[in-house]
Amino acid sequence: METGPARPDLAALRAAFPALGADIAFLENAGGSQVPACVADAMHAYMTQTYVQLGAGYPLSQRCTATVDDAHAFARLFVGARRGQAILGSSTTVLLNLLASCYAQVLQPGQEIILAETGHEANLGCWKRLEKQGVVIRWWPVDPASFTCTLDGLRAMMGQRTALVALPHVSNLLGGIADLPAIVAMAHATGARVVADGVAYAPHRAIDVDAWDVDWYVYSTYKVFGPHMAVLYGRDDALAELPGPNHDFIPRDDLPYQFEPGGASHEGCAGLLALGGYLKLMAGADADAPCTRAVVEAAFAHAAALEQPLTARLLEYLNGKPGVRVVGSPVADERRVGTVSFTHERLAARDIVAAVDGTGIAIRHGHMYAYRLCQRLGIPVGDGVVRASFVHYNTPAEIERLIGVLDGIL
Ligand SMILES: Cc1ncc(COP(=O)(O)O)c(C=O)c1O
Repeated sequence: METGPARPDLAALRAAFPALGADIAFLENAGGSQVPACVADAMHAYMTQTYVQLGAGYPLSQRCTATVDDAHAFARLFVGARRGQAILGSSTTVLLNLLASCYAQVLQPGQEIILAETGHEANLGCWKRLEKQGVVIRWWPVDPASFTCTLDGLRAMMGQRTALVALPHVSNLLGGIADLPAIVAMAHATGARVVADGVAYAPHRAIDVDAWDVDWYVYSTYKVFGPHMAVLYGRDDALAELPGPNHDFIPRDDLPYQFEPGGASHEGCAGLLALGGYLKLMAGADADAPCTRAVVEAAFAHAAALEQPLTARLLEYLNGKPGVRVVGSPVADERRVGTVSFTHERLAARDIVAAVDGTGIAIRHGHMYAYRLCQRLGIPVGDGVVRASFVHYNTPAEIERLIGVLDGIL
């Protein structure tokens, strides 16, 4: 990597985010992150200076076409794809529905889809609907002691009829990182494909789809300091076995366009592309050099190092608090991100969060669309968990502030 300025401290990173100047502690990042000025500025500039249609011959249109093409290239770099495509869309939920609608055309009655109980409904509901056409849904149970779907559990379910395994790389409620390479290897051994939901992973660590050999990987860019969009990576061979959902006159090998009916948000593409500038700042890379894979990896290594002590501190507090049950691993190790959920033996999650709401701290409660997971863990879905979720730009002082407020309530 070209090195420029040293890796910036937290204050310099926070200064890149206009919203972080306000007196509010954003601890609801698993819901959505803030954006650096470079992203917001790029979207504003696109809409005010170059808001024309793609694909025409005039220079302005060609510039827009290049922006959208470059955003796809950036998304491939971001997920570590040297083979395969980055499909852009409006949200993870939409992209997974689209993928399921493609699989609906090729799956046969009796074929099986394994769904992890730790999943967000975005990677469950679209597959469950295929039951109507005879596809068999099998649930990969969560182990309530370890809060994981275990490899042994998966091994016991895999068979010749398994077509797909759908799981969250990280649960948006539990925060634990699944052993994706091992899961992919197990699925591939019987010819099944893996659809990994990386939404709750992507803000915290560098994605590396090639290293993990995963077939499908999706994440939401609005949770990773970007615009409200999502990216679905598809490996070449997985894409080749599916009919794309776009118009029938568009050639089947016109990728990723064949999988992008209606196209992606153009101003969103401008914003996504501009995120490279912030990643360079995070990585301490030369601002004028291109954003490379090494930059992405260095940026997220820095992010993980900044985040870990925040997670450790909140877990230390919650683990020591009588009546509190941490829902997820109680240990802030490398298998965990800074998404921390808990319940209380006496107090409703709703009441705890209501008491925090007026204090300038943003957290939330609920089932977080991990509806089945809550049911399986015996958590009332109407109330759910209290969830505080950090990313690298949060500060130790914000965590102390949260702990101070929680301590008055708990
Ligand atoms: C783990 C996980 N998967 C999927 C989604 C859905 O993402 P989107 O809002 O882009 O549809 C979310 C949103 O919170 C999530 O946390």
